[in-house]
Amino acid sequence: MYKYAYHIVYSAGMIQPVHYDTLIYNVRIASMQANGKPYGALTGSAVAIHNGVIADILDSDSLDAVTAETVTDAQQQWLLPGFIDCHTHLVYGGDRANEFEMRLQGLTYKDIALQGGGIKSTVAKTRAACEEALFKSAVKRANRLAEEGVTTIEVKSGYGLDNDTELRMLRVAKSLESELPVRISTTFLGAHALPAEFADNADAYIDFVCDTVLPNVARNNLADAVDVFCESIGFTNAQTEKVFKAAQQYGLPVKAHVEQLTDSKGAVLAAKYGALSVDHIEYLAESDIPHLAASGSVAVLLPGAFYYLHETQKPPVNTLRQHNVPMAVATDLNPGSSPVASLLTAMNMACVLFALTPEEALRGGTLYAAKALGLSDRGEIKPGKLADLTLWDIESPAELVYTLNGHRPTQVFLGGQHV
Ligand code: NIG
Ligand code: FE
Repeated sequence: MYKYAYHIVYSAGMIQPVHYDTLIYNVRIASMQANGKPYGALTGSAVAIHNGVIADILDSDSLDAVTAETVTDAQQQWLLPGFIDCHTHLVYGGDRANEFEMRLQGLTYKDIALQGGGIKSTVAKTRAACEEALFKSAVKRANRLAEEGVTTIEVKSGYGLDNDTELRMLRVAKSLESELPVRISTTFLGAHALPAEFADNADAYIDFVCDTVLPNVARNNLADAVDVFCESIGFTNAQTEKVFKAAQQYGLPVKAHVEQLTDSKGAVLAAKYGALSVDHIEYLAESDIPHLAASGSVAVLLPGAFYYLHETQKPPVNTLRQHNVPMAVATDLNPGSSPVASLLTAMNMACVLFALTPEEALRGGTLYAAKALGLSDRGEIKPGKLADLTLWDIESPAELVYTLNGHRPTQVFLGGQHV
């Protein structure tokens, strides 16, 4: 192992030095900026951090004019932006290993959902779990992501489907920040499935979501966005639109699970409401892609669910590329369709299964994942952005995605603090 960090004031030259909190030098920078260079390559080899934010990118010959409280010689390691997992359902009770077995015996995800399993079985276990139990299990899963260099995690509700449990899930998600070195973005997914109390009355449930739960979520500042499962086994387009309208009233941006199992035109609807992202999209029609290009919505690819559900229909990656629709990659970490607590694995799957390039996959877990969350303050190494950074002892950034090697960063910085 190298010895990276030492705590001295970097010796200044004759010129009045500029002082920073932290300096990371002798580093190869994969900035992920969309600057037309591979991995957003930059000429500089040092990153200066002040007040939690990237202050400057410096050349090695300008370091004499710089001092810092903390200085790290990265010894030619690669520096990347902290990863962002922009789609997870990692707060839940129980697990669904039995359904994994059922699917291996030939039942489909849809069969299981229609028999009352699937999301509904997790709802029962989540409702029965107290806040502390939910927190304990969620910390373990979030920690798996954090260990791999994820510094921002989006977490959805949607396994409560009643007022108290939905709010509980969102509180638990938010409180992960107090336990782990991560930033959390929360999404209210009340319209994830139809709870038993509203059987055969999905419209009434949607009214309950819009008129009772969402106002409470908004009043308590518990969500940064609102999501809907718009699908044959989820909610109709009319119901989805109702939720979008309610979200707008509370000033919350929307996103949606769309075209996962069927082409329901959910992406076009989401685009009409300026959705931050449309997620899954295996069945997205190529002719609908211009709508996404116009709305600026990010296409979030979730290859973990594709893999676990033995899906064969692939998202229209080539056409998304042609229309310059930004593609993000996320784990979809959940107990049913994607029990995958590794963003690097999801990126690898996006390459192997959907033919993304390693560079696209890495941008999909940084720059465009930030965009999918509406967070313009992170996801790339650039002056003014949050100093959420990871250092890697690798030959090239592609190695992180090309090999399934359980890669771990040698150092993680959250807001410039070494964690
Ligand atoms: O993104 N598609 C709907 N929601 C999740 C699955 C949740 C579950 O199966 O528990 C998804 O795949
Ligand atoms: Fe999901």
